[in-house]
Amino acid sequence: MSFPKEFLWGAASAATQIEGAWNEDGKCPSIWDVAGNHIKNGDNTFVACDHYHRYKEDVALMKELGLKSYRFSINWCRIVPEQGKINEKGLMFYSNLVDELISSGIEPMITLYHWDLPLWMHKLGGWKNSAIIDEFLFYVEAVIDALSDRVKYWMTINEPQVFIMSAYVIGNFAPFKHAIFSYKKCLRNCLLAHGKAVKLIRQKAKTEPVIGLAMASTTYIPDSFDETGIKEAAQYSFESTVGEGSNSVYMDPIALGKASPSMAKKLSAEDLKIISEPIDFIGINVYQPSNPLINKKKYNAENLPKNSLGWVIDGRCLYWTIRHYYERYHLPIMVTENGMAGNDSVSTDGTVDDMIRVKFLDDFISEMEKAVDEGIPVIGYQHWSLMDNLEWCEGYDPRFGIIHIDYNTQKRTIKKSGWHYRDIIREKSE
Ligand code: NOJ
Repeated sequence: MSFPKEFLWGAASAATQIEGAWNEDGKCPSIWDVAGNHIKNGDNTFVACDHYHRYKEDVALMKELGLKSYRFSINWCRIVPEQGKINEKGLMFYSNLVDELISSGIEPMITLYHWDLPLWMHKLGGWKNSAIIDEFLFYVEAVIDALSDRVKYWMTINEPQVFIMSAYVIGNFAPFKHAIFSYKKCLRNCLLAHGKAVKLIRQKAKTEPVIGLAMASTTYIPDSFDETGIKEAAQYSFESTVGEGSNSVYMDPIALGKASPSMAKKLSAEDLKIISEPIDFIGINVYQPSNPLINKKKYNAENLPKNSLGWVIDGRCLYWTIRHYYERYHLPIMVTENGMAGNDSVSTDGTVDDMIRVKFLDDFISEMEKAVDEGIPVIGYQHWSLMDNLEWCEGYDPRFGIIHIDYNTQKRTIKKSGWHYRDIIREKSE
């Protein structure tokens, strides 16, 4: 048996993508609630999967699937609807969810920032304004105070490179800014918010916390598997333009206390000390390799399957991301996201035959197993996603779930892949 008994087999989601109830129980709007026609098909966050009202049914489904963990995020807007004000009703929702999970034998894992910036904070400048650091800590402290008696696993932020690059530079993510000259300021504020939050959680948590963050961690599959090929792949993964932007610019300061070349002038020694507050694991969100982005000639993606968003499906990227990350940072790894978008629908017999996802699970999990067998400490795997949901600006068309959602009726149907994942969990946990 390669997977340890305590391996955390689970699934992941994020508040904005599933909760709905966008203006209930005192919640303020977030930048995504007002994204308007930036979201395809006129879709919006308002109802989503109605998880806010159906969380008990959803936890019952998780139990049926045999999940041992569930990674979800807290919506900052439910907890702090106005600057300086804590909303007890928001905390109560998550407290009830945590109770439901624990009584079903499922380990809760919380992401503190999965992109739902309160509109009031955005109006103060969002990630461009260093005041966001204290505002974030105010929110984090309220959450830790309310939930850390029962919750042990914490992720400060999700995919910093996405919500900073896409949101403030490329401008294709809320709040849709082309503030290219603010990029380094946003990045610094985000890294400091992370480091200070880690310290705060460690100080205030009522049960010993296990702390990390979740990185959009695309890396490079070696072109050849000899020493030179592997070394070159690691270099592409962390030091090429793509690799630095997506991996080392964030992770080197956090895990090594070292600024990447492009940030060297922006981060002082004092900053680096704060940012490198020790963490317990690195979460990696893995979807596709960065090979097609870096060196198209050597990597032929033409014959590889693609998901419904056109992303290359190549299970080897999971093994290599785990290995590249571990060899550079020497910290335990949690796969905080891995999955694929499909066009799944319910057949006349009531089943959802997403055979491509069944194969995806087999391929990616066997690649992860290879890393575990080689002795790399991988502590969990959270499939993205528990259920179909709002894929940000792509709307509801791309279906990432192992549970199908009928958005007209809110009926949940466990897909073939969900049942298959249940069997994998059973087999690997024996
Ligand atoms: C990463 C993000 O964390 C998640 O919110 C998103 O839905 C998935 N990737 C798929 O794009």
